[in-house]
Amino acid sequence: MTAPNDYGESNPLETNQKILICDDAVAACQRAANLFAAAIHGWPDLKIGLATGGTPVKFYARLVQLYQEDILNFEAVKTFNLDEYIGLAADHPQSYRSFMNEQLFSHVNLDPANTFLPSGIASDIDAEVQRYEQQIADAGGIELQLLGIGHNGHIAFNEPGSARDSRTRLVDLTERTIQSNARFFDSIDDVPRQAITMGIGTILEAKAIVLLATGGDKADAVKRAIEGEVDESNPASFLQTHANVTYVLDNGAASLLERRE
Ligand code: F6R
Repeated sequence: MTAPNDYGESNPLETNQKILICDDAVAACQRAANLFAAAIHGWPDLKIGLATGGTPVKFYARLVQLYQEDILNFEAVKTFNLDEYIGLAADHPQSYRSFMNEQLFSHVNLDPANTFLPSGIASDIDAEVQRYEQQIADAGGIELQLLGIGHNGHIAFNEPGSARDSRTRLVDLTERTIQSNARFFDSIDDVPRQAITMGIGTILEAKAIVLLATGGDKADAVKRAIEGEVDESNPASFLQTHANVTYVLDNGAASLLERRE
């Protein structure tokens, strides 16, 4: 095992709010992955929260690479994903469980029993969301959470209007989110209209958060998250109320920020 400094990053659990701006999307993904690597190195039984979507694909590729190079060990790590589509079974190709299998789980030494996602086909959704919250609590809470950001400022599937103290629950996806996610499906009609998502309150209980955003199309959402008013109409703005958030951005996503330190 190499020392944490070999990742070129300090453990994000030991730092405060900061903005890291990278040249391009690949560099941003690698930097975010290096932060996770430094944290896992410090605490091999780390509980991490994970996101899906287009943004973190290269983030997971970097974690897999660090594992293959024998630098990172997931043996005792537990993972909790932010969300899952309603109506998609775990083995559906577009389920977030399948995404995680493809991008990370099947390539590293994570114990499958340590990888948690809500079930999108649970017969009793109320019981399922409570079960998921309980699983997080039983693990002792999430220590390091990865987030992406939606064009409308959503984090996980907490769409505008979500309360700061919201918990894991069933939500309706907005038309904009359905359109954004249609690229992963054969047709927009196939995109589920509902999901189970961790709540904003649940997310804010993580000890440290890394928000990863890349591309100029995210610049407005990023600016409103970091510099905008803290308000339910802009769920990512609630991150301003958390003591330890690292925003890892590429130049495009950071392009509208006034403060770029
Ligand atoms: C995914 C999730 C979402 C995405 C967001 C950005 O688990 O919770 O909030 O992070 O929709 O998605 P991409 O990366 O596809 O732009």
